[in-house]
Amino acid sequence: MRQKIVAGNWKMNLIKEEAQSLTAEIVGMSNDELGTNQNGVKLILCPSFVHISTIKSLFKNVKNVHLGAQNVASQAEGAYTGEVSAEMLVSYQVEYVIIGHSERRQYFKETNQEIAQKIDLIFGNGMLPIFCCGETLELREEGNHIEFIKNQISESLFHLPASKFEKVVIAYEPIWAIGTGKTASSEQAQEIHAAIREHIASKYGQEIADKTPILYGGSCKPSNAKELFACADVDGGLIGGAALKSRDFIEIAKSF
Ligand code: 13P
Repeated sequence: MRQKIVAGNWKMNLIKEEAQSLTAEIVGMSNDELGTNQNGVKLILCPSFVHISTIKSLFKNVKNVHLGAQNVASQAEGAYTGEVSAEMLVSYQVEYVIIGHSERRQYFKETNQEIAQKIDLIFGNGMLPIFCCGETLELREEGNHIEFIKNQISESLFHLPASKFEKVVIAYEPIWAIGTGKTASSEQAQEIHAAIREHIASKYGQEIADKTPILYGGSCKPSNAKELFACADVDGGLIGGAALKSRDFIEIAKSF
């Protein structure tokens, strides 16, 4: 059985009070209300750095809701003005870090190599990566998308020993579906998720591939989550816009 995960990537949204009330609405629910008792889903909230401490303080005694960050510096420490290190994040009990999001690749020119460095710092500090991959519409139309995604995975993750790789969470996020309202069909998602799992198996073997959670991200919402999560190789979602409303986020989490 693979771990089911629904993670909310809040991106650069919500001021302090809004982040507090969204968190309070989620952690104020019982495990039954969250659906985590019934389907074993793990929820991860990924606020912006400035809210991490506040959000964590609201987590008291809450099971199945975990804290993630949206990025981390590629250097361990030092004169990197404006950056946040892995060691800092772990000192706030952050457990997961979203890494290689397409917005970071596109706007901040993150490369597969830089992402690999970040992955090492995340593991080195006892946290776990949620590694994002995904293609542009152009690549898909050219028919090169699967090779492109496999290459993102190989270059950023395949240096890891199996003992670490087996803890990685992967998120497939087609860029053309992010924030556009245009979701990948369940067939499109399943095709890529299966190809990703096959690629992992070719390097680490079937057992590890079968254990790796592969999440779907890109306009995932209550109305389409059920169909997406019903796919054999879709183990949950990385949710942007719909994670900003507690009701939608919870409804997605209950969609297994
Ligand atoms: P949307 O759900 O808003 O399309 O964003 C998806 C995403 O980028 C999550 O990381």
